[in-house]
Amino acid sequence: MFLYILCLAALYFLYRWYRESKTVPNKSDKYVYITGCDSGFGNLLARHLDKRGFCVIAACFTEKGEEDLQKGSSNRLATVHLDVTKTESVRKAADFLKNKVGGKGLWGVVNNAGVSIPSGPCDWLSIEDYKSMLDVNLHGVIAVTLSVLPLIKKAKGRVVNVASVFGRISPFGGPYCVSKYGVEAFNDSLRRNMVPFGVKVLCIEPGFFRTSVTDIDILRDCAKKLWTKLPQEIKDEYGSNYLDKVETMLKEKFMKMPDGDLMKVVSCMEHALSAVHPRTRYSPGWDAKFFWIPLSYMPTCIADYLLLKDAIFPEKSVI
Ligand SMILES: NC(=O)c1ccc[n+]([C@@H]2O[C@H](COP(=O)([O-])OP(=O)(O)OC[C@H]3O[C@@H](n4cnc5c(N)ncnc54)[C@H](OP(=O)(O)O)[C@@H]3O)[C@@H](O)[C@H]2O)c1
Repeated sequence: MFLYILCLAALYFLYRWYRESKTVPNKSDKYVYITGCDSGFGNLLARHLDKRGFCVIAACFTEKGEEDLQKGSSNRLATVHLDVTKTESVRKAADFLKNKVGGKGLWGVVNNAGVSIPSGPCDWLSIEDYKSMLDVNLHGVIAVTLSVLPLIKKAKGRVVNVASVFGRISPFGGPYCVSKYGVEAFNDSLRRNMVPFGVKVLCIEPGFFRTSVTDIDILRDCAKKLWTKLPQEIKDEYGSNYLDKVETMLKEKFMKMPDGDLMKVVSCMEHALSAVHPRTRYSPGWDAKFFWIPLSYMPTCIADYLLLKDAIFPEKSVI
């Protein structure tokens, strides 16, 4: 019986591997628009797809990002300035794309641009802090997608949304998880809405990877800034050494967590764009596959226990 189940499982994985290994033809005819290409996953994806022969349109937040990217790339790769929070910037980039792709339409858009600060306990933040991140991570994704959707429909192409494991489980406070849960919701409704148009909508949910989003210096500086702005009443609740404890936790635990191999994420993005049968969801990173995603399916009481077990509590905690 055990052998029979083992054979069935092996056959299933063999079939899945064969099905997923088929790739779309004529990559050099296909335009792919990627946001947030100054650094991190977006930058590596733009360079990688350029080498693979796609016509990449890399949207950068800064002029320096555009210059650096153009240096090491082929003349197929074009750059465009984009601030996903500015309606005018999103429209201008979409006009640029329309002229570039002509009648072919756009094969893919990768909604990658994102930020991870301001981050901190929920009661350390203002509504403006929430709005500033939601503007980039959620409204930016929706605005960019809507701006190019007619071009994607024309090519029967793909929308690739970069969410996170923190779009599936929310282990810390602040707007990051809120924004990524929103991306997941937008992704799921768009995927179902686009089926009749032959457009595929795929979601990438990475675990921890070493980029500026997980840079502990940036996160620690952000925590310090938020702390200085707190009213004395909240500082007293948390205790004067709370920030030191957070810093120690960031150095001892958080620093070891991010995976340095960004290609794990970029390969998933490439598969989402180039496989004939892409996966609906990708969870790159061992932490995503074996901890965060399984944890997201567990009963709330178990998830709460595991997440609170080693948490740093305020001085005036009642537990
Ligand atoms: N690293 C991880 O562990 C991890 C895990 C899960 C999900 N993600 C997600 O992966 C995506 C890429 O992040 P990353 O890790 O590669 O970090 P990253 O290197 O900081 O990349 C984010 C990119 O977005 C750009 N950006 C920021 N604000 C923007 C705006 N208003 N308009 C347009 N572009 C803007 C940044 O430009 P500047 O560099 O010029 O600021 C940067 O190029 C993000 O959506 C992030 O949430 C990351």
